[in-house]
Amino acid sequence: MSRLEGWSIARRPALDQVLARRRVVCCVGPGGVGKTTTAAALALRAAMAGKRSLVLTIDPARRLANSLGLKALGNRETRIDDTLFQAAGLHPRGEMYAMMLDLKLTWDELVQRQAPSPERARQILDNRLYQKLSTAMAGSLEYMAMEKVSELRSSGRFDVVVLDTPPTANALDFLRAPDRILDVLDNDAMRILLGPMLKVSRIGLKLFALPTGLVLRTLAKFTGQDFLRDLAQFMVAFEGMYEGFKQRAGQVKKLLSGPETAFVLVTTPSPLSIEDALFFHRSLKADGISTAALVVNRVQRDPHRFGGPDSAPALREALQLAQIPDGGDPPLSQRLARTLVEQSTLADLDRRQVQELLRTLPDVPLYVVPRLRKDVHDLAGLWQIDQCLSAVEE
Ligand SMILES: Nc1ncnc2c1ncn2[C@@H]1O[C@H](COP(=O)(O)OP(=O)(O)OP(=O)(O)O)[C@@H](O)[C@H]1O
Ligand SMILES: [Mg+2]
Repeated sequence: MSRLEGWSIARRPALDQVLARRRVVCCVGPGGVGKTTTAAALALRAAMAGKRSLVLTIDPARRLANSLGLKALGNRETRIDDTLFQAAGLHPRGEMYAMMLDLKLTWDELVQRQAPSPERARQILDNRLYQKLSTAMAGSLEYMAMEKVSELRSSGRFDVVVLDTPPTANALDFLRAPDRILDVLDNDAMRILLGPMLKVSRIGLKLFALPTGLVLRTLAKFTGQDFLRDLAQFMVAFEGMYEGFKQRAGQVKKLLSGPETAFVLVTTPSPLSIEDALFFHRSLKADGISTAALVVNRVQRDPHRFGGPDSAPALREALQLAQIPDGGDPPLSQRLARTLVEQSTLADLDRRQVQELLRTLPDVPLYVVPRLRKDVHDLAGLWQIDQCLSAVEE
């Protein structure tokens, strides 16, 4: 065991060693804990070590996106510019790419790949319902993120693809998203209900199929005839493509639950985050997927462990040396000392949470990343995070 800022952490390898053989790394966890930051830091670390890495981000913090040169990014990977590395004093042996997921475009590309003909693809892409459905369907983002990862993986262009994920109520939404989407597309109830309209639409997709029968006419009153017609045309256009979609979804699921993929669980030391993170861990486990590593991010540092002045007399002396007046009532040195005590108490709370996590998940390598002074919005900040993900020696 070794002491790291006061808590005991069992000896464990650097995170990039843990992930060395993985080709896909998914950073999952509750909202706002640092998933995007961790994903970018892991891709940076891989690039520094000589790999071609790609971080696929989803709605990243704008400043991080900007600092990675993602301003003018479409659905294509962008190489992180050398000048950005130089500005951070970094010299990568490999290459780092970043990409922001474009939900609509990814859907469109998938439809184009799966459609039996360009005409059929066009019919679907032009369908107003498809245009709404593709971006609004629950699970759509998760499914497309996985779809993109799978596509990038099979392209062979990258040694490792790191996926940043949106805050999801359940880690398994990712694994189950393909099934859910297929359920919507291949819905028997809808098929039976729309039966008469489907028949007419099948004869000619352009034909204006009127809703007939009491149920459909009543439904049309609520949804509008156009909606029902769009729906019927959409379902006809999709016919025969379910199998392809199913196969594809199956491949995506296999990749995710296979040995090439690692799930890195990110959390903060707050009890609520930890509770969520443990729930993620358990749901992954129930599906036979182990958590490859746990990152506890934004842990409060204990000011008493920096070795700097922390008592009121020592602070008074330090202020004198820095020629800063020790004014006010109570004097500045005393107020500073009190702040340090408060910070120390918070650090102690965080330390206990980390220790509890170590006890709860003794087999999962755990990495502690302190709360940095500033938000992480450039490569230098990411590299600082990477330093915390390295080995702990005995
Ligand atoms: N160790 C750290 N120290 C200081 N700030 C941090 C640290 N890690 C992340 N941050 C900051 O915390 C904020 C949230 O981080 P991030 O966007 O990575 O979280 P997220 O889990 O991806 O959030 P969301 O669930 O909303 O996507 C960002 O402003 C980021 O710069
Ligand atoms: Mg994020």
